[in-house]
Amino acid sequence: MELLIEKIKNEGIVLSSSVLKVDSFLNHQIDPQLMAEIGKEFARRFEDCGITKILTIESSGIAPAVMTGLQLNVPVVFARKRKSLTLVNNLFTASIYSFTKEETSEISVSNQYISENDKVLIIDDFLANGQAALGLVEIASKAKASIAGIGIMIEKGFQDGGSLLRGQGYRVESLAIINSLEDGLVSFEQQTTE
Ligand code: G4P
Ligand code: NA
Ligand code: NA
Repeated sequence: MELLIEKIKNEGIVLSSSVLKVDSFLNHQIDPQLMAEIGKEFARRFEDCGITKILTIESSGIAPAVMTGLQLNVPVVFARKRKSLTLVNNLFTASIYSFTKEETSEISVSNQYISENDKVLIIDDFLANGQAALGLVEIASKAKASIAGIGIMIEKGFQDGGSLLRGQGYRVESLAIINSLEDGLVSFEQQTTE
């Protein structure tokens, strides 16, 4: 998606050979116009899939997920990372290990908001090692919902998540794929336009 790639080129900061900082439009400040276009693009790619629900994870997945839900006219559910006071029973949970943070966390979704009647589109902001997406897949599976695909804003193609998920047969649609962050430069995979 050209608009997103331009935004990354203009505002992304390469923190290391594996981490891209995009606080100006995604992880701290949010660019609503850009997010609206991202929602339209995900909706375009998945419009014929019979999606009934968007599933994401707090916090940075919520903005693109809401914009996609708005376009597809379906509710948006976000997995919680922390135990909620009011959310204690009847949870679908998954453990996710972050290689970046070297810690395991438990994420959860109430069984009120996802069921076997759902066809779910998973949305997230970054795809690195794929552990967050796999956790969302596990939650959808525990709910016996079907999974139409996984929409990612920024995939780091040099990490394992993309091949892991595609290798398991999931349709992964990434709006920008980064091949390398070496030498302080962001290089993108050639875009395929549908
Ligand atoms: P994985 O799920 O793909 O295995 O990723 P990983 O554990 O490495 O990611 C941990 C957190 O870091 C996630 O956010 C993820 O979105 C984010 N992340 C991973 N790589 C990058 C990167 O290059 N740049 C940026 N900006 N973020 C990255 P989180 O901690 O769950 O937080 P939140 O921002 O969603 O609240
Ligand atoms: Na994040
Ligand atoms: Na995220």
